[in-house]
Amino acid sequence: MSTTEQSPEETNGEAGSAKSAERASEVGDKAQPRDAAGTAPAGEIPSFEVTLKVRRYDPERDEDARWEEHHLTMFGTDRVLDALHKVKWETDGSLTFRRSCAHGVCGSDAMRINGRNRLACKVLLKDLDLSKPITVEPIKGLPVEKDLVVDMEPFFAAYREVMPFLIAKGAEPTRERIQSQADREVFDDTTKCILCAACTSSCPVFWNDGQYFGPAAIVNAHRFIFDSRDSGSDLRLEILNDKEGVWRCRTTFNCSEACPRGIQVTKAIAEVKQALISRAL
Ligand code: SF4
Ligand code: FES
Repeated sequence: MSTTEQSPEETNGEAGSAKSAERASEVGDKAQPRDAAGTAPAGEIPSFEVTLKVRRYDPERDEDARWEEHHLTMFGTDRVLDALHKVKWETDGSLTFRRSCAHGVCGSDAMRINGRNRLACKVLLKDLDLSKPITVEPIKGLPVEKDLVVDMEPFFAAYREVMPFLIAKGAEPTRERIQSQADREVFDDTTKCILCAACTSSCPVFWNDGQYFGPAAIVNAHRFIFDSRDSGSDLRLEILNDKEGVWRCRTTFNCSEACPRGIQVTKAIAEVKQALISRAL
């Protein structure tokens, strides 16, 4: 383990470090998993060497965040989350990050991996360029509490504001509220959100203006605005018509690219804008 103040750009730069060059010659442009002898015996999972650069920050100890480097032997089936576990369980138990399901369902381990918002449990190490260090940082735009853990409260406050629950008028029905397949199709995509914040924390408008609702809140408003069983659409549209609402979106598509569920986030935001325009006519 080593600690350094170098930025990932410095170590990911064209010149690269001597260690990176040496590693590149060892593993090639895109590393192929193998064991120390160069091939994995039949039936065994091949292993390879990985350099993990983790952004560390302990508010009780550090004035500023710093980079920390770990050299690990990992396997072809390992993900970035497994590399973080290896550091935490075998080298430094103080490394702090969130994770729960480890299978892309709970949304708790969104982080910046090689500069892109991803779920650590969904990124296989063998799919990354292992000739360079893998950088892991907290998502942007939310206050860092410790290492890779950010304060999610501003994110969830925006989510709560759009009232992400069914608002139905009238007396409680005696049977289920019927909805056609076509009606359900209209908002099917936005039901898939796992509230990981990868979209909101990749949005430049959110970075510069923490008051902006952000893509995730709009996606979750969309899920109910276009639900034929819901009666609260006008309320939600009114909320999103705010100066910090949908009109702040600059259609950069960062959110759609970041979403680990493949939700067409920018399209959903455009549909909410369109609903506001049609309502005004
Ligand atoms: S829309 Fe996608 S990226 Fe955004 S919070 Fe939901 S699952 Fe995560
Ligand atoms: S740990 Fe649950 S989504 Fe990655």
